[in-house]
Amino acid sequence: MSDKARVAVFLSGAGSNMAALLHASHLPGAAYEIVLVASNDPAAPGLALAEAEGIPTFALAHKGMSRDAHDAAMEAEVLRAGADHIALAGYMRILSDGFVGRWPGRMLNIHPSLLPRYKGLDTHARAIAAGDTAGGVSVHLVTPDLDAGEVLGQLAVAIRPGETAETLAARVRMAEHQLYPHVLNRYVARHHDSDWLLARVRKLAMAMPEAEERDSHGAPGFRTSGRSGKFFAYFSDRHHGEPHIALLAKTSGVDEMTDLIARDPERFYRPAFYGASGWVGIVLNRRDTDWDQVAHWIARSWRSVAPRRLTGLLDAADAF
Ligand code: GAR
Repeated sequence: MSDKARVAVFLSGAGSNMAALLHASHLPGAAYEIVLVASNDPAAPGLALAEAEGIPTFALAHKGMSRDAHDAAMEAEVLRAGADHIALAGYMRILSDGFVGRWPGRMLNIHPSLLPRYKGLDTHARAIAAGDTAGGVSVHLVTPDLDAGEVLGQLAVAIRPGETAETLAARVRMAEHQLYPHVLNRYVARHHDSDWLLARVRKLAMAMPEAEERDSHGAPGFRTSGRSGKFFAYFSDRHHGEPHIALLAKTSGVDEMTDLIARDPERFYRPAFYGASGWVGIVLNRRDTDWDQVAHWIARSWRSVAPRRLTGLLDAADAF
């Protein structure tokens, strides 16, 4: 099976953003595919666009249904399609907190303003009325607070003298079609992006008491501070010709390292040079990396090299 993210798109109208997402998904290197286009309006032109391209569609008018019942029917269809992400693209209905809460970090929306400015409706008219010199578009993660989730990307579009909401909307739309596929692609591919992975490892490693970062043989390393400081973690980005982006952490010795690899050879490996002294490689560039386990290994590795002065403090804290 391909490692691409499987995206369901929700829309209520023309579907031009859905079309931008769909066509971009056919470009070389795309990290996602569209597996479903669903709408609360059976007459939405966006549905016909998707059908013409052979994409499965689903439509259910919301009139006369409770929000929960309508959301449940939409979500059931998403799950049936095997989607792992939902992209809202002009879906003009607020989703229930329950639905949104089941898709944390896996539901995105495109909103026609430079958030946090102008949440909600009539964004272009409000930007013009405020005398702004630019409007724009944002792609953000969906959380129960309307248009308030983490912003993943934005593009500004100039507001010209004499601009109307309609002329601005049309030009912002062009920016939308550039931004959404780019941001969605980058977002679903982040598990393979070494900058993103290093930032996550760095955050966990630097949270250990008195940790400092120091390069070691060209790889970012993390060590305890001071003259007798010792390394407890390395970030290996395909170092020494290895195929993985990985965390190197200290085990109790070669026996434990060998045992870990035997038990889970997809996740653990023997790193060049370091393996000889019991360091294990933990593969990070996978969609299903268990970051609690990565945090556990960083803490354990730190504990094995940190001075008693520091581990003692943590032991005392753990006892309470
Ligand atoms: C887009 O401009 C999108 O930003 C906006 O609806 C339009 C849908 O156009 N979304 C919102 O206002 C969400 N609150 P499209 O159907 O052609 O993609």
